[in-house]
Amino acid sequence: MKKFLVTGGAGFIGSAVVRHLINDTDHRVLNIDKLTYAGNLASLSYVESNARYEFKQIDICDLVSLKLAFETYQPDYVMHLAAESHVDRSIDGPSEFIQTNIVGTYNMLEVAREYWLQLDEKRRGAFRFHHISTDEVYGDLEGTEDLFTEETPYSPSSPYSASKASSDHLVRAWQRTFGLPTIITNCSNNYGPYHFPEKLIPLVITNALEGKELPIYGNGMQIRDWLYVEDHARALVEVVTKGEIGETYNIGGHNEKANIDVVKTICSLLEKLQPNKPENVKSYADLIAYVKDRPGHDVRYAIDASKIQNDLGWTPQETFESGIEKTVKWYLERTDWVEGVKSGEYKNWVAKQYK
Ligand code: NAD
Ligand code: DAU
Repeated sequence: MKKFLVTGGAGFIGSAVVRHLINDTDHRVLNIDKLTYAGNLASLSYVESNARYEFKQIDICDLVSLKLAFETYQPDYVMHLAAESHVDRSIDGPSEFIQTNIVGTYNMLEVAREYWLQLDEKRRGAFRFHHISTDEVYGDLEGTEDLFTEETPYSPSSPYSASKASSDHLVRAWQRTFGLPTIITNCSNNYGPYHFPEKLIPLVITNALEGKELPIYGNGMQIRDWLYVEDHARALVEVVTKGEIGETYNIGGHNEKANIDVVKTICSLLEKLQPNKPENVKSYADLIAYVKDRPGHDVRYAIDASKIQNDLGWTPQETFESGIEKTVKWYLERTDWVEGVKSGEYKNWVAKQYK
């Protein structure tokens, strides 16, 4: 049994990691989260009473509270997921992205280094700092064949991806210069339960159910590689417990889809699973609306995930077809969760972004 300190554990992927650690292993978890608009403790309602789980509301930019959390909890592993994660919000206002993703990661590295240095030799040797990053650091892929490998040069396009690229560089520097035992993963687009409905897939599902427009940026031909979030959570725990210090692992779903095809698939699933439509809707696909493109929009991402498969034996269990059906069913069942997150802040964002 190990002690995991997870940052951002109230977010979409972090909560899947926490649920996986508590439900499927014997490990302990301390979840550190600021609870921004994207953090939601309702995503952890099934684990919150477990004796192996603890939560502390801490901003990773608050050095003093972070230090205290490390000192009192004494983690074996750190999984750093806390971040501002939405590209459109980073275009609207980059400042929080610089603070949390860059300065916050710097704080995490410094606090972890100080903590790691005073561990006894055995625990120091076993300690790992796992930084969870994104395939967006690599920028755009040309053509239809190329894949991002761990050697692809960084070329971020948005304030979000530039801030994540910066944080990756800091992590590598702390490993090389100070010997901090770090590992980085760069993953493609996740989808699944508890996904905040500002991102494409949950936005489209929840808008369709309310008879609202399904906004497609530009021509809808941009390609993303979709990975079911629970597959990502399993991969992350494999990496932090078995990965090599100083290494990077790309994680992807082998599911390259154009945005318009993803949206049409969701519409077809809703026709089957929720034939009882809002009054204004004849067919869900009629709600599709092409809107102004995202500035700097990356056209295609695709991951070569052969390293994590060969070195650690991880492969995704869900296909896009099985994962997206599970996801749509989850949103049809968990209307309580959806209503809970569609607060005033969410409404303000949607009104501003899609005016
Ligand atoms: P999310 O936006 O759903 O959740 C982020 C969490 O971090 C929230 O709970 C939020 O409250 C917390 N947080 C934000 N600022 C904080 C701060 N200053 N201090 C403490 N907590 C703070 O994000 P996500 O989609 O779950 O992504 C998690 C991580 O995975 C991010 O680092 C992201 O870059 C990376 N990632 C995401 C995807 C994806 O498709 N969503 C893919 C690859 C990598
Ligand atoms: O690739 C990994 C990244 O995936 C993560 O690092 C990010 O944290 C995560 O948010 C996600 O970024 P994207 O920008 O790819 O995800 P998003 O759901 O915002 O958009 C997916 C695609 O859909 C993208 O090409 C933009 C498009 N889109 C998005 C929205 C919100 C639309 O066409 N309409 C929309 O309303």
